[in-house]
Amino acid sequence: MKVAVLGAAGGIGQALALLLKLQLPAGSDLALYDIAPVTPGVAVDVSHIPTAVNVKGFSGEDPTPALEGADVVLISAGVARKPGMDRSDLFNINAGIVRGLIEKVAVTCPKACVGIITNPVNTTVAIAAEVLKKAGVYDKRKLFGVTTLDVLRSETFVAELKGLNVSRTSVPVIGGHSGVTILPLLSQVQYAKWNEDEIEPLTKRIQNAGTEVVNAKAGGGSATLSMAQAAARFARSLVKGLSGETVVECTYVEGDGKYARFFSQPVRLGKEGVEEILPIGPLSNFEQQALENMLPTLRADIELGEKFING
Ligand SMILES: NC(=O)c1ccc[n+]([C@@H]2O[C@H](COP(=O)([O-])OP(=O)(O)OC[C@H]3O[C@@H](n4cnc5c(N)ncnc54)[C@H](O)[C@@H]3O)[C@@H](O)[C@H]2O)c1
Repeated sequence: MKVAVLGAAGGIGQALALLLKLQLPAGSDLALYDIAPVTPGVAVDVSHIPTAVNVKGFSGEDPTPALEGADVVLISAGVARKPGMDRSDLFNINAGIVRGLIEKVAVTCPKACVGIITNPVNTTVAIAAEVLKKAGVYDKRKLFGVTTLDVLRSETFVAELKGLNVSRTSVPVIGGHSGVTILPLLSQVQYAKWNEDEIEPLTKRIQNAGTEVVNAKAGGGSATLSMAQAAARFARSLVKGLSGETVVECTYVEGDGKYARFFSQPVRLGKEGVEEILPIGPLSNFEQQALENMLPTLRADIELGEKFING
């Protein structure tokens, strides 16, 4: 398997490169690309770690050499949030970056599974879909918004609050990847008994956890290390699926459009990417209401991406 990281010199990209060098199966190839000239050096740096993952680094204007033969492409290229910004403030810059990179994916590795990390994910995934469609190579089984960080945060916060073993705590998170569109399904967590007054503040904390990091870093960027771990987990799951193992992850994909064209929910990954989109399961009244409330925002975010490409 070959995994390519686009944006590999950034805060997320470098940590992700390190984790993939440590965590990808033996014999994998890892290609690191970024416009920043330091990128080949990042590759040399991680290549000195003794694991059986081959690393190559590329910089400059053209990602093509990194994309050749890629099975999985992870995109974290773009600008990150500063205090006072929400994810939609990133739209103007990141939309163009994602469009440019996906145009190259469409030509060089149209059958690769693509995981979009660059925010605003609700919108950048729609941009990627429309670019691939225009190029005649869109396969909805192979395009993913990486929302795994919302799952990681939910697992951590729930286990902390309820005194559970964090490695055995699993929390499905549905919807999208910003503010009210992030909906952790706390009612589905095994072994957790909830008081009514815990649900809303915990849901809000998970929805705003990215801002917690942005404010704590005080102008120095947004979540990078936890995001890298989230992306590494997602990439490992994709690679496992592509290799024939059955894996389930919550991820933002195009499904049957029941709630919105793109929606994050548990997905069974397999040899072609999405193998089956699984039901979201029973919701509490609070979750049902939150789901209904998020839909106008999520649909508008998606439409913004579609219009960015189609006018
Ligand atoms: N999905 C999530 O949960 C999640 C979480 C945190 C951050 N993010 C997003 O990830 C993105 C990256 O965050 P970061 O903290 O790593 O930012 P960063 O500024 O540290 O890194 C971004 C990198 O992208 C590179 N880049 C810019 N344009 C490029 C292009 N055209 N081709 C290749 N590389 C290019 C830059 O040179 C830089 O190295 C941001 O959009 C951020 O909002 C997503």
